[in-house]
Amino acid sequence: MAGRRPRGQAAGPAANLARPLTPVMVPILMYSNEKIDEVLRAVDIVALVRQYVDLKRVGERYRGLCPFHVEKTPSFFVVPDQGLYHCFGCGVGGNAINFMMAINNMRFPEALEDLAQRHGVSLPAKGSAGSADQGVGKSTLYAVTRKASEYFQGLLWGQTGLAAQAYLKERGLSVELARAYRLGLSLDNWDGLRKFLKKEGFSDQAQAEAGLIRPRRGDPEAGFYDVFRNRLMISICDPEGREVAFAGRVQPGETDPELAKYINSPATPIYRKGQLLYGYHQARAHLRAAGLAFLVEGYFDLLALAQAKIPNVVAAMGTALTQGQINLLRGQVKEVYLLFDGDEAGQRAASRALPALLNVELDGKVIILPPGEDPDTFIRTRGAPGLFEAAERATDILDYYANRLMAEHGQSLGGEARALREAREMLARVPDAARGQLLRRKLAEKLRINPDLLSLGPSVGPRPPVDQSPSPGRSTALDPLTKTILAHVIIHPELAKELPGLERIWPQDASRRVFEELKAQFESLGRLEPEKLRFEEDEEIAALISGALLAKRVDNAERAVVVFREMGQALLAKAAKSERARLAQAIAEAERGGDQETVRRLMEERTRLPHPILSKMKPQ
Ligand code: UTP
Ligand code: MN
Repeated sequence: MAGRRPRGQAAGPAANLARPLTPVMVPILMYSNEKIDEVLRAVDIVALVRQYVDLKRVGERYRGLCPFHVEKTPSFFVVPDQGLYHCFGCGVGGNAINFMMAINNMRFPEALEDLAQRHGVSLPAKGSAGSADQGVGKSTLYAVTRKASEYFQGLLWGQTGLAAQAYLKERGLSVELARAYRLGLSLDNWDGLRKFLKKEGFSDQAQAEAGLIRPRRGDPEAGFYDVFRNRLMISICDPEGREVAFAGRVQPGETDPELAKYINSPATPIYRKGQLLYGYHQARAHLRAAGLAFLVEGYFDLLALAQAKIPNVVAAMGTALTQGQINLLRGQVKEVYLLFDGDEAGQRAASRALPALLNVELDGKVIILPPGEDPDTFIRTRGAPGLFEAAERATDILDYYANRLMAEHGQSLGGEARALREAREMLARVPDAARGQLLRRKLAEKLRINPDLLSLGPSVGPRPPVDQSPSPGRSTALDPLTKTILAHVIIHPELAKELPGLERIWPQDASRRVFEELKAQFESLGRLEPEKLRFEEDEEIAALISGALLAKRVDNAERAVVVFREMGQALLAKAAKSERARLAQAIAEAERGGDQETVRRLMEERTRLPHPILSKMKPQ
């Protein structure tokens, strides 16, 4: 992310005091502003945000619990008229593209392409130059994955699938359910899928990028083979219901112990592991209606619950629950019931789900199944009523965790130390620091120990973030002063005429583009229209604009000018100070090198610097 903007280079705040103004950097965007606006016009931001946040209408605005920080009272707003969202609690904000970037951890072009594709806006094909993505493109990946799913489904429901059909039936799964979840079958040969997809017009490259085929011996010259062979096929969909990946389960009669029970699609540009929940798009409406989610581990657990008419169920697909997965649930439900196997592995899985669950305002409950049972067998023997009964007796997740720690480590000598270490490590993975503190106190209370025993000592090192993926769009911190000035001008557009006075001292950082845009508006329209400002991909800038657009005006016109000039004065002083420091260093260097000519020139430059105290800003 650092490479996208020439930030923090020599062009510091004061660099343009003494040098000719360098042209404003142009972000390396692949799409024109017109295209971006076309996409934004096509998006219904309320509908988009509603996929993640439960929004209530308040006049012209919509309000809900912020998906980007933990809160109990909603301070997150969506304003459809202005096409923006903003959280007054944690200060994030922006337009639909910024929202996609933040919630899905996407980069700008990726977020734009996703929105364009969903709303039927065609984007120009990316040239090879300047395009970060040399691959076949997401729309092709969606198309090839969908075709593959159709192919697998065809094999299941044809003559080839009789045995597999019988197996599903034996497990109590109906044809309707299997169809609704797009179950399928792959055959025991090396290139059935590849040949089919080739006929449908998909290149080897597209198939390989979608994770469906793989080069023989890792060498594309040697040909390709199908990744999924002789398996029951599970289609994995994204929240919009598009097929993005597969899991293939070994056939019931399989005797080869070498075969993994499941093989899974690799991560691809349309499939981020750990960001999806299996069954989510089928469950979504039901999650909302029920206000609670059952969370299981396995595909077949989920299918068994859905078959038993419990549709508000999602599966974590055998990984530790991630923050991205939790984000799909928050806003939709208030409670999450973990329903894992009654065995040791299931208990471990419940514990692994803990940090992500504890980090948000969701009530986590654990349903403990009898030993030897999994959700699939449980629901088939006890049915939905049995599950609801068990849900009523569910244990609060923190109690569950405390009990488990005590039981596991309570007996032996040294067990206590082990338990404490485990708890410390778990708490360290809770990303929200304040919440981590609260949990530490609660857990200590339950364990009847001093909370300090659950604090990380300095020897343990920095707390590892739960989600290690980089956050695109995150900027280096901008000067708070320039941000305040911009917000002040957006709130008081009549200050437009004061802007040119700051042109030469405005820093060459991400804030400069907003400054330039405001100035350009003034020059062409004679006034400011802040609501027309472009939201930038920089998240700090986007939040600055959304916040200022929603801010209430408190200063009257006179007061606004005074405040503006005071801040301008401070900016000038800052610029002059750092330029003075730069010159002093350059002079010292030139002197050391005996370069009198340069020394003279630099000293001359220095005399031309405005003195911070004497100079007055002159509005033009
Ligand atoms: P299970 O072994 O419980 O699988 O693993 P299951 O889906 O319930 O299948 P049945 O009931 O035995 O037929 C739980 C989940 O862990 C992941 C899958 O997501 C699976 O659904 N898993 C398991 C893998 O990804 N790979 C494996 O080899 C095993
Ligand atoms: Mn199972």
